[in-house]
Amino acid sequence: MASSNKFLCDVCNLSLISEKAMEEHLKGKKHQKVEEVTKMRQIQAKKSIFVGNLVKSMSEIEITDYFMKVGSVERVILDKEKHRYAIVEFQSEEVVEQALATKKHIIGGRKVNVKQREWKPVMGKQKQPSKKKNTRGQVDEGVVESLVALDNVTEQMHGLMAQLQLSPDDVNLRYLVCRLLQSVFQEFMPYAAVAPYGSSVNSYGVKGCDLDLNLTIDSRNLMYEFSTPDAEDEIVEKIDKKNLKDFDESETMDIDDNDDSVTMEIICKIIRQLVPGVKHVRGIPLARKPVVKFSHSQSGLLCDISINNRLALRNTELLAFYGKLNAVVRPLVFAIRQWAKVKQIAGNVGAGPKLTNYALTLLVITYLQMEEVKVLPSVKELQAANEDGDECIIDGWNCTFNCDVNNVASIAKENSLDNLLVGFYKFYATVDFSRNVICPRKGKIIPIEMFQTEAGEKEKEFKCGCLNVQDPLELSHNVAGNVNEKTVKRLAGEIKVAQVRCQSKRFSKSDGERKLWGLMLLVKEGTSDSLKAEVTGCLEVGFGNCTFLDSFKSRWDGNQNGAIAEWVHQVMLFYKTVLQDVLKFDCHVESLDGKEDMFDMNNQPTFEEVEVTSSNGSLKRHLEDDSSLPTKKLKMDGGEVHNENPQTSDTSLCSADVSFISSTDSHAIDMDVQSSTSSVISLPGEHLITYICKTKFPMWIGRRKHKRVLMKAPEYKSNVFALERAVTTKVVKEQELMGDVNFKSGSMSLQLHLRKVFEDGSCKLVLKMEPVTEEIECKSFFHFFDNFFLKLLSEHTFQ
Ligand code: UTP
Repeated sequence: MASSNKFLCDVCNLSLISEKAMEEHLKGKKHQKVEEVTKMRQIQAKKSIFVGNLVKSMSEIEITDYFMKVGSVERVILDKEKHRYAIVEFQSEEVVEQALATKKHIIGGRKVNVKQREWKPVMGKQKQPSKKKNTRGQVDEGVVESLVALDNVTEQMHGLMAQLQLSPDDVNLRYLVCRLLQSVFQEFMPYAAVAPYGSSVNSYGVKGCDLDLNLTIDSRNLMYEFSTPDAEDEIVEKIDKKNLKDFDESETMDIDDNDDSVTMEIICKIIRQLVPGVKHVRGIPLARKPVVKFSHSQSGLLCDISINNRLALRNTELLAFYGKLNAVVRPLVFAIRQWAKVKQIAGNVGAGPKLTNYALTLLVITYLQMEEVKVLPSVKELQAANEDGDECIIDGWNCTFNCDVNNVASIAKENSLDNLLVGFYKFYATVDFSRNVICPRKGKIIPIEMFQTEAGEKEKEFKCGCLNVQDPLELSHNVAGNVNEKTVKRLAGEIKVAQVRCQSKRFSKSDGERKLWGLMLLVKEGTSDSLKAEVTGCLEVGFGNCTFLDSFKSRWDGNQNGAIAEWVHQVMLFYKTVLQDVLKFDCHVESLDGKEDMFDMNNQPTFEEVEVTSSNGSLKRHLEDDSSLPTKKLKMDGGEVHNENPQTSDTSLCSADVSFISSTDSHAIDMDVQSSTSSVISLPGEHLITYICKTKFPMWIGRRKHKRVLMKAPEYKSNVFALERAVTTKVVKEQELMGDVNFKSGSMSLQLHLRKVFEDGSCKLVLKMEPVTEEIECKSFFHFFDNFFLKLLSEHTFQ
């Protein structure tokens, strides 16, 4: 894979991953614009001088007057803050020469320094891949641009991996830190060995990932093999202690028998006092596998050191082996890890409710082991292939498996990378995570009941949760045991969104306009933002603008929170009714943020659910900063305001209050609302709902003529909902008959963001719809839907 430095655009200071990407970049508008501005700046610089040693009392006029004597001055730019220097731009380069030829320049009795103005590249700084960003394995602008220019998704996956993976130098640095620690520990424990495990050496590590280390106190008879990403056949480190001299117990520090906290304390002390360049050393004795955490200044690495964690060393070896076994494994794991990171599904900082990268990698591996895919053998199959080899038992678990690539590679079925990526989402979209166990040991997804029946004695200790992923070696360990329900919902929702995105035209083919496409739809941070920038439908529904029956009012009199909760719920149900019943969308709801399904009739929000516990500072800032937050009833297509509905066009929608409720509550929400006249306060429960609604027909086209006819029928005269429903039926029938209705993607999918916002003392609901796939149809739909929805809502009475 080409090194990113090989293809560097000097003008934009941007590294690209291939010659082709470079060519594409040079043709692009962005590059040409930068080139144009650069040239202009160069010319300007040649006509300018830098004047230093000024004092605050000097004015722009004084400086201009002085240099006008040398030649025609175009403009003077004065250092605004301190008036220490100025840039003087002349009309021609000749005047610059004259100014530079003059040895002494005295302004107001003070000698000033004059030199040629230096020229600096225009975009250099901004475009330099930010070290900070890159070190955490994020996709920076340059990477995105490079991937966009590639030919297909498979190339993009390889490109992403090339950009993110650890270089051999990165891996070597990690081994150096290891050796440094090992030499310190061996002072106390002659047979101690420090070895890396996890992403530093399993070949799936991204730049800047943590360094997981294991301290083996009695290291005799250890032998582990890890590989680096770029030198797959080359064993970088072989920890082979077989030939160590006889172990003399009296020479060692026996910390193995101590309890975890004492052990941690000793390790912390040794590291703190004897390892140079370490900071923030602290022990976490209560973790499932106790660790000591510290940062190492020289290498910039964050390190976790655990003790005698041989299972981790062995499973690292297993993952590294799978990566070597088939060339598709690593790029697939990189792509899915990046997707999960961007979607905030995986990668905890410390203990957390997201999937660990280890668990996520096992999800990918199990998928590849499945009978239908069979790119990789199961661990069981690897064990069977090792019948004659050495047995490896760790902590009572059979960790024997064949590590000879030649013995097992032949079983792999052929499959392309892009197919496997799409297949991953398609497969997991069908899995009910809470009812099944993902078993890389067997290469299967097994229903919990069956898993429990088949489980061996020790395996029975496996604790089922909302996500169940069995460790391939330590069979009683659910590696996703930390994951909470919210994360599982998010995982399931995002898998479905990814699946839909993978089906879109934009996934399989670039539109030639260098927009985001293919893999970038899944792994770029804020992908939905970029789609949103192009097309977003955004509706605001004000509480005070809705009509309420007296029964509603009296039910909630004195209970503002309860009223709003029910109102939100009813608006959501209304929204669903309009899409599903009136417009005949095929709707499927996923609540991505793990909160309750707002559309569920049986799931009435409770009083507590809408109670503001604090005015959320960060959210508040977010909302205030969010320029896309509509300030009027409706905002579409990057800011253009469409509002043709006279019934809802007045500004009272936003400023409508909740005055029908005589507020007697002393809850925070009331206080916040009363006291807030200009700020934006969000109720807890900002929802991101993947509301996948699909339609085969653009039923918003050609409605008017049918409506004109149907509205004459008495049954529709006073029932606008029945009328619109009938219109949809007519339109769909007509479009069905017509066959090709020029509906490009054949289906349209939307994602709904729901925000409850208090603004200027009033409550409103912001419904933001984003296309999940093609945006062309969505755009015309949003144009139609804004008025349509609000018009129907104005006919609705909340009960
Ligand atoms: P991580 O989840 O941190 O994976 O577990 P990673 O591949 O190193 O990814 P990042 O980049 O640091 O996030 C690190 C290692 O810890 C062991 C595995 O060896 C894994 O590779 N581990 C983790 C377990 O043995 N069991 C677990 O449940 C989790």
